[in-house]
Amino acid sequence: MKIAVFVSGGGTNLQNIIDAIEDGTLPNVDISMVMADRDCYAIERSLDKDIRTYVLDRKTFSEDAEHNLEDEEIDLIVLAGFLTILSPEFTAKWGNKMINIHPSLLPKFGGKGMYGAKVHKAVLEAGETISGATVHYVTAGVDEGEIIAQKSFNIEENDKVEDLQRKVAAVEGEIFIEAIKQISNT
Ligand code: GAR
Repeated sequence: MKIAVFVSGGGTNLQNIIDAIEDGTLPNVDISMVMADRDCYAIERSLDKDIRTYVLDRKTFSEDAEHNLEDEEIDLIVLAGFLTILSPEFTAKWGNKMINIHPSLLPKFGGKGMYGAKVHKAVLEAGETISGATVHYVTAGVDEGEIIAQKSFNIEENDKVEDLQRKVAAVEGEIFIEAIKQISNT
């Protein structure tokens, strides 16, 4: 299965995919290209493995990405900490072949503007006792697509944003790889 990975941040999830391919957990998966919408550490992780890497302008990302994907026979697009909202045309074309990881238990704490630390802050402010991560298909509605995998963890009384970030990263590592493996086996 040939995948394209879209990134905007630290690239922990991209690294998890790279590691899972290298250690044989994802034997049928190959990263054909990585596309970033800004300068970010994920780019270094990608270049470090000699993966074809593009940095695109956020304003024209969907069109430029479509151009890069042409003639590549990509089976799956993986949004791994990707923050640009893709165009309706792009999601309509790739929706059933595009998955996203989100750092909350959707449908709670999703939607436009809900990303990264903002999600964890909102979760703590709402007094939630559990949080988690979700892998889902991508549709034009932000964070609204069909859920593929979800995993929760307990929030302790003194947990801060950084604690939730750490706990989310751990469950993301598990469910993202599981979801990609499941799709690669179908
Ligand atoms: C991850 O926690 C991911 O769920 C979140 O950004 C982080 C990226 O980390 N994505 C969103 O908030 C998208 N709405 P990474 O760049 O280190 O993989």
